[in-house]
Amino acid sequence: MVSRRDYRSLRSCTGWRRFLLLVPVLVVLPHLSSLVDYSTSTRAKNEAPSTRSKKLDHLVLGPAAGVGFPDRLHCQGTKALNKTHTTTSHVSGAAGNRVSFVTVFTVYNNTTSLGDLKSSSVVSVVGNVTYSKPARSMAVLNAFAYFIQVSMPKSNVVILTDPASQLSIQASNVMVEPIPGDYSRGNLMLQRIRSYITFLEMKLQKNDGGTNHYIFTDSDIAVVDNIETIFVKHPNFHIALTFRNNKDQPLNSGFIAVRGTREGILRAKVFLQQVLNAYKTKYMKASRMLGDQLALVWVVKSHPSFDAKRFTKPQAFTQEIAGASVLFLPCALYNWTPPEGAGQFHGMPLDVKIVHFKGSRKRLMLEAWNFHKSTSNIPDMLCLVLGSGRTKYDF
Ligand SMILES: *[C@@H]1O[C@H](CO)[C@@H](O)[C@H](O)[C@H]1NC(C)=O
Ligand SMILES: *[C@@H]1O[C@H](CO)[C@@H](O)[C@H](O)[C@H]1NC(C)=O
Ligand SMILES: *[C@@H]1O[C@H](CO)[C@@H](O)[C@H](O)[C@H]1NC(C)=O
Ligand SMILES: *[C@@H]1O[C@H](CO)[C@@H](O)[C@H](O)[C@H]1NC(C)=O
Repeated sequence: MVSRRDYRSLRSCTGWRRFLLLVPVLVVLPHLSSLVDYSTSTRAKNEAPSTRSKKLDHLVLGPAAGVGFPDRLHCQGTKALNKTHTTTSHVSGAAGNRVSFVTVFTVYNNTTSLGDLKSSSVVSVVGNVTYSKPARSMAVLNAFAYFIQVSMPKSNVVILTDPASQLSIQASNVMVEPIPGDYSRGNLMLQRIRSYITFLEMKLQKNDGGTNHYIFTDSDIAVVDNIETIFVKHPNFHIALTFRNNKDQPLNSGFIAVRGTREGILRAKVFLQQVLNAYKTKYMKASRMLGDQLALVWVVKSHPSFDAKRFTKPQAFTQEIAGASVLFLPCALYNWTPPEGAGQFHGMPLDVKIVHFKGSRKRLMLEAWNFHKSTSNIPDMLCLVLGSGRTKYDF
């Protein structure tokens, strides 16, 4: 059980009360991308045993990268010197279209088989709130839902989960959709694609009148601007993915947008079925956490006319792939991650839409949400993220 103390600390986070999740469980296994990064950091640890000791349990605000680039956010401490998001008008569903953010979030009711009893006693302090490991995963999920409520008040959150996980959520913008499947740890990425496909099939069967778009995401992201604009600005795509200039992992599976027309849902479903097939036939032996990304890249790159050079420039483009019109959006705006370690880093674009707190950055996500709670200032909060994002944190 989540201890009474952790339960209380979750509740004491007053701003989140409406999102309080009542979870009679031990282990939460939600933030899929974190697992990717944990596995890579495990590899890194073998090379450099000191990595772990460098993970910090408090924020370290350093200089904000991007000085000298006029189109980047400039900061003085946590004070933003630029206006951000000046070009996007809040569409706020002018055409009556809504966007649902859909995420897979799994909860286990027993931990012994996972050998996680020790880690469930890990306690972290963020601000003046104490979290057990499961409680802090819930806090990240809450922050995810809250950022969406702030940036896109008309949107809602759909959590696809194992019917056995007994996730009960009391929040006006969060809906739980149990989808049967094998959510065990080793099968999670495969199950995630399956759950996405099942969800799209359900939407095809149920014609709910107007158009509701869907964005499948990891739950460790902060939406900091209204991104419904992509459906208006790029009126012809069926499915949208985010790319970066990275030879081995050019696509991130943590963001998949689907246009909510019948045609869009149908084509996206067929596209994802091909990703699932590639996963099952080619990548079952790949790292269990990277298989979906490798399969996604395989489906895109195996298309004869696809030119991988397009990934080198951070500019949106559209391409027909696997029967669908696929919009490729730059990670720099739609899936921005604070880089870790050294290397070229030109700061944060002024119109960043989504910040992805991959790997050891969940603490920063909670700190950022706390900061926003007390300031209601997104540009200043982005300065906090930019200045603190290169440090590895304890979760
Ligand atoms: C952002 O602020 C910096 C520092 O004040 C300034 O040099 C830069 O021109 C600004 N950029 C824009 C687009 O206003
Ligand atoms: C719970 O424990 C049982 C018995 O050890 C095991 O078979 C089952 O897979 C576990 N459930 C989960 C969700 O891990
Ligand atoms: C946490 O600390 C801040 C500032 O020290 C204080 O204003 C706030 O009330 C505290 N919150 C809780 C829940 O104790
Ligand atoms: C855990 O979940 C399984 C699958 O739904 C269920 O059969 C079992 O009774 C649950 N165990 C407990 C202790 O709640």
